[in-house]
Amino acid sequence: MTQDLYRLIYLSRNTIPGSNENIHQEIEQILAVSRQRNAASHITGALMFNRECFAQVLEGAHDDIQETFERIQCDPRHADVVVLDFKPVQTRRFSQWSMGYIGYDSLASKEFTASGFDVKQLSGERIYDLLHAHLYAAEKAGSSLVKIA
Ligand SMILES: Cc1cc2nc3c(=O)[nH]c(=O)nc-3n(C[C@H](O)[C@H](O)[C@H](O)COP(=O)(O)O)c2cc1C
Repeated sequence: MTQDLYRLIYLSRNTIPGSNENIHQEIEQILAVSRQRNAASHITGALMFNRECFAQVLEGAHDDIQETFERIQCDPRHADVVVLDFKPVQTRRFSQWSMGYIGYDSLASKEFTASGFDVKQLSGERIYDLLHAHLYAAEKAGSSLVKIA
């Protein structure tokens, strides 16, 4: 069992301007960099995006998460970053994803949207469970939205 394993969950507001195409390209870039850097830092997790907001789960050693999150927080592509949870955990639940992704045309995102994706109303646990459940379901269904790292 891994020691020093932490989980961080945060929400933020999208500030990427422009067309859907532009937003899509930026997110592809975020995912490419995240997958590379997270794999190097033994960080696993998932990102969800519903056009308005991001929700992200990061799992890894305390210092690795802190270093990564400091970079993420400074990123001008989002703002109003709110940490919902940062705590030690026993096991990784996103171990096969250096950064799984649920996009805004996916079911999970619709579920967020249906509930208004009122970020203030969603707990870290709820986001965590939703992301996990939908990544597994999308992976099983062979969705191209979910990329295995
Ligand atoms: C919503 C969002 C999530 C991100 N998630 C990660 C991540 O999990 N890991 C990571 O290394 N960078 C992530 N980034 C990108 C970082 O902010 C940063 O651009 C990248 O790590 C490169 O940093 P550098 O230019 O200082 O080297 C994310 C950015 C955004 C906007």
